Amino acid sequence: MPISSRTQVGIIGAGPAGLVLSHLLYLQGIDSVVVENRSRQYSEQRVRAGVLEQGTVDLLSEMGVGERMKAEGLVHYGIELRFAGRGHRIDFQDLTGGKGITIYAQHEVLKDLNNARIATAGQVLFEVENVSVHDLDGARPRIHYQKDGNDYELVCDFIAGCDGFHGICRPSIPSGALTEYDREYPFGWLGILAEAPPSSTELIYTYHDRGFALLSMRSPRISRLYLQCRPDEDIEQWSDEKIWQELHIRLASDGWALTEGPVLQKGVTGMRSFVVEPMQYGKLFLAGDSAHIVPPTGAKGLNLAVADVQILARALKHFYSNGSRELLDTYSDVCLRRVWKVQRFSWWMTSMLHRFPNENPFDHRRQLAELDYVTSSRAAAKSLAENYVGLPLE
Ligand code: FAD
Ligand code: DHB
Repeated sequence: MPISSRTQVGIIGAGPAGLVLSHLLYLQGIDSVVVENRSRQYSEQRVRAGVLEQGTVDLLSEMGVGERMKAEGLVHYGIELRFAGRGHRIDFQDLTGGKGITIYAQHEVLKDLNNARIATAGQVLFEVENVSVHDLDGARPRIHYQKDGNDYELVCDFIAGCDGFHGICRPSIPSGALTEYDREYPFGWLGILAEAPPSSTELIYTYHDRGFALLSMRSPRISRLYLQCRPDEDIEQWSDEKIWQELHIRLASDGWALTEGPVLQKGVTGMRSFVVEPMQYGKLFLAGDSAHIVPPTGAKGLNLAVADVQILARALKHFYSNGSRELLDTYSDVCLRRVWKVQRFSWWMTSMLHRFPNENPFDHRRQLAELDYVTSSRAAAKSLAENYVGLPLE
């Protein structure tokens, strides 16, 4: 017999979605338990996203986990689009009425959230095994898992599937109940983290004949750089020297130089767009990457995950304070409306900035015209800016 316990909301996954949800619920007086199959150390070291929208920054601050982000994060009020060897600034502050973004690594956000959960006696169980969910549309939804060789059962009012794209929640929903929308891109990103002062104060998105390149950063001493590559690119074929050489070529611009430094980490990420509808089945609510994936251009993945759980936390609060399921019933529709707009933006940024293997000269000229338009029309630049800093929650 498993060791049985009870909570109001069982959360699977201690990524940004799961941890933000659990801390938001705590602040609303709602009990939750998070089960995570990786170690705390692994998730706090894994290099992933780095750009926080204004809304994400505001939320983390309101939750009381924004102190280090405020001290160490880099606030940016624009980005550069670079093509045909020239840079063009998109001025967010001017175009959005003062909004900006903050550069602060995902794993630093996770450290802050884990510390906050521990300081408030939150239950986050790392290194659990064989997680499964049961009775999703019944009276007793349950999470089963193993830890240290023992079997456990967690009986919940609701389950939040915050377990990412490869998690178990989405596949536990009966086939036929969900519709999946999917697109894979014929390229990936080769990313490096380098001990080099960023060569620009703001991010540079570059369209080049040889493919996309991005200059980003993590701190005044650490650069984060990406190159468009094949989706199945073998990282072993890319020496540090070859990576820097390619970055120099693609990012080249008159009077500007790229600063090199030791490569601390490198890897290849595939790119896809994916949405599942609805984001709910019975008492299981999907949030973040378990329900949708965006290609990274525009840095929306983490921010979208945080937006979902904000909507879910509000719906759960409504349920526990009024007994009304109204907001829970509209959770999926409310999220999906925003999700699809963010999908559109990520797809558009990706399409504008990458070379496609099957493109023809017409496509190439059209992409250049698109970049010319975005950087010369205030209306077009404004559209990019309002999406980049983050659309309103609803
Ligand atoms: P996740 O962060 O994936 O968290 C899910 C958690 O669930 C993980 O901790 C996982 O270990 C856990 N889990 C999975 N299965 C189980 C299970 N069976 N039982 C228990 N726990 C489980 N976004 C950007 O905006 N910019 C970027 O530069 C960027 N780079 C990325 C690079 C990589 C390599 C990847 C994979 C993603 C990147 N993303 C980026 C996307 C961004 O990191 C995600 O959108 C974000 O992490 C989503 O948060 P989440 O909490 O929904 O999912
Ligand atoms: C980063 C990642 C992105 O996908 C992006 O559009 C901008 C920055 C980053 O990792 O810093």
